Amino acid sequence: MDSRMPRIMAVSSGKGGVGKTNFVANLALFYASLNKRVLILDADLGLSNIDVLFGLAPKYNLKHVLLGEKKLKETIVTGPQGVMILPASSGIRELTKLNDKHRLKLVSELDTFDMPFDIFLIDTGAGISDNVLFFCSAAQETIVVVTPEPTSIADAYALIKVLSRDFGEKQFRILVNTARSEKEAFDTFRKLAIVADKFLNISIDYLGYLPFDQNVKDAIIAQKGYIALYPNSSFSKHLGQVGRKLLELPQGKVKGNIQFFLKKALRVG
Ligand SMILES: Nc1ncnc2c1ncn2[C@@H]1O[C@H](COP(=O)(O)OP(=O)(O)OP(=O)(O)O)[C@@H](O)[C@H]1O
Ligand SMILES: [Mg+2]
Repeated sequence: MDSRMPRIMAVSSGKGGVGKTNFVANLALFYASLNKRVLILDADLGLSNIDVLFGLAPKYNLKHVLLGEKKLKETIVTGPQGVMILPASSGIRELTKLNDKHRLKLVSELDTFDMPFDIFLIDTGAGISDNVLFFCSAAQETIVVVTPEPTSIADAYALIKVLSRDFGEKQFRILVNTARSEKEAFDTFRKLAIVADKFLNISIDYLGYLPFDQNVKDAIIAQKGYIALYPNSSFSKHLGQVGRKLLELPQGKVKGNIQFFLKKALRVG
């Protein structure tokens, strides 16, 4: 894999609390087990962040980079199995109101950022805030996590609607989380697919599903990463299927390195 052209995938959802962060963390661990170099951008303003999930306490984040106090490289923390995390959460708010000085700083930082990665995962947080939309539209793949609850489906639809209407996004990968059966997962996807087709005139793709598993919560408490603790569970099997499927997708839409992506997502450069 060409390290200058990593796979860049944004994981998002309409409604909060549907399992994005848990998915991103475990997907990262899965790719690490395949010897891929994984970088996670934690762009989530919520509380259950990647660093918490991995039991890390990053000292610095993008804010320190913007203030010129740290290099981008210096903010990266290493989690289990060498998974790297770029903590941005408390810096992201500032990124929406960058002044010229900040922009120049960020551009020069990005130009000298030379760490190689194969996979770049962005945990965008939920909803239709600018951050979520920018990250999704700049990534190669937009993964929308949805659960079988009607409100989750409705909010996923709202997110897809804005991304397709205002950002020209035409391709969405739908991951159904906490499904009780394969049928429930596919029915959830179908409900979304029908309205997307009818009202937005776009087709969405079924990426797969992750079953509901009570142990997921325990693994979070243990801060170990679920798939490491329960490698033979149904959840881990499905996660592996989804992870492999994502790797098989053509790297169609946007090609570029991490600098290209971040500049696009942050509207700088
Ligand atoms: N497949 C699953 N089975 C059981 N519980 C799950 C599953 N996936 C996630 N959870 C639980 O659901 C809760 C929310 O998960 P998570 O924090 O990953 O969601 P999120 O979408 O990132 O939330 P937020 O929008 O607040 O960032 C957590 O308590 C997590 O343990
Ligand atoms: Mg989260």
